[in-house]
Amino acid sequence: MSGVNILRLKADNFRNLSSEIIEFIPGINCVFGPNGNGKTNLLEAVYFLTNKKSFRKNTGFPQILNIEGEKPEILISSAFKIKEDTHSLSVKFFLETEERWFDGSLEKSKIKLDSVFINPFDSYSFHTSSSFRRAWLDSHLSQLDNEYKSALNKFQKALRFRNSILAQGSFSQSKLQLMSVDESFCELSAFLTLRRCEWLERLSEFVTPTFKEIFAETHELRIDLATKFRGWDSKKIFDHYRYTESEDFEARHTKTGVHRDDCMFFFDGLNSFEFCSLGQQKMSFLSLLFAFIELFRYKFTFYPIVLIDDVSGELDSLRWKNLIQYLQQKSFQVLITTANENFRIELEKIPHAHRIFMEHGRPISQG
Ligand SMILES: Nc1ncnc2c1ncn2[C@@H]1O[C@H](COP(=O)(O)OP(=O)(O)OP(=O)(O)O)[C@@H](O)[C@H]1O
Ligand SMILES: [Mg+2]
Repeated sequence: MSGVNILRLKADNFRNLSSEIIEFIPGINCVFGPNGNGKTNLLEAVYFLTNKKSFRKNTGFPQILNIEGEKPEILISSAFKIKEDTHSLSVKFFLETEERWFDGSLEKSKIKLDSVFINPFDSYSFHTSSSFRRAWLDSHLSQLDNEYKSALNKFQKALRFRNSILAQGSFSQSKLQLMSVDESFCELSAFLTLRRCEWLERLSEFVTPTFKEIFAETHELRIDLATKFRGWDSKKIFDHYRYTESEDFEARHTKTGVHRDDCMFFFDGLNSFEFCSLGQQKMSFLSLLFAFIELFRYKFTFYPIVLIDDVSGELDSLRWKNLIQYLQQKSFQVLITTANENFRIELEKIPHAHRIFMEHGRPISQG
């Protein structure tokens, strides 16, 4: 397995996880255990370590700190295999800050460690909420593209400033101020739109073959940006905001723009939100996530760590088998959880898979 693999993890004060060492192999790692025993927490600890945040919404230090913890600090120690070498990474999290130690020294250079979280429950939110889709798009593109991430931060600051000017509601006094903010606001809007279009086009190239590979069905899937600004340069966007500024002043916020763009998911050319069965939506969404993993590899030439939280309730048993076969063919490291006994039996059939049984946050058996 090339790229980055986690080999060991020890978490102190992280949710309900005990501080025992948990071992992983570079291939497929299955995490078993009844509901509420720490399987998702284990994935979250790996994600926190690699991606520096949680995959759960509105979750930061106060939520992940063990409620019975004596000190307000969390320590996650780990070993990673990066290419052929083993490295240690320890991160101490505090309320406001964190310290990262790589091979015993305070981490200076940024080491690219990434994991991708696959949670089929998100399919529903993805198919029903445009703000969820936007957040999904922004967080995933930020993972691929540092320039995008930094432009997005600047854009969000500029948007807040723009809205604060509009909130004053005085068109004549604030017009010039608005125009001056709009210079960079429109440049950032043009840049973000261009990058979104480019990345979604690339993602679309991966999603149809991925759907066929996992679910053995031939359907054409495509994801596309729904935006007014496609192909517009910053000057044209600036002119648009001059045209809409009186409306924005009246509404006291920026009514149109990149922050309102959406992405549309097409299944054989039809809007998947309107056309697909729930099962098809889940399969399409999972394919989109796996296509993102391929896109990640295309960009960085190695795979991220793939964290898959219980898919058993979302797919029928034929699709379980297809998914397992797919995972076996791939060279990424997988941590996959289930509380479902039948899915566990299927996962147990994978040759050489590593198994971890969790109980009350403890790995009661591993191997
Ligand atoms: N900050 C915290 N401190 C201590 N325990 C916590 C904290 N946050 C959550 N928990 C506990 O973690 C447990 C849930 O763990 P987790 O979500 O990992 O379960 P799971 O094994 O994935 O279950 P399921 O199969 O239902 O998804 C719950 O018992 C919850 O009370
Ligand atoms: Mg869980």
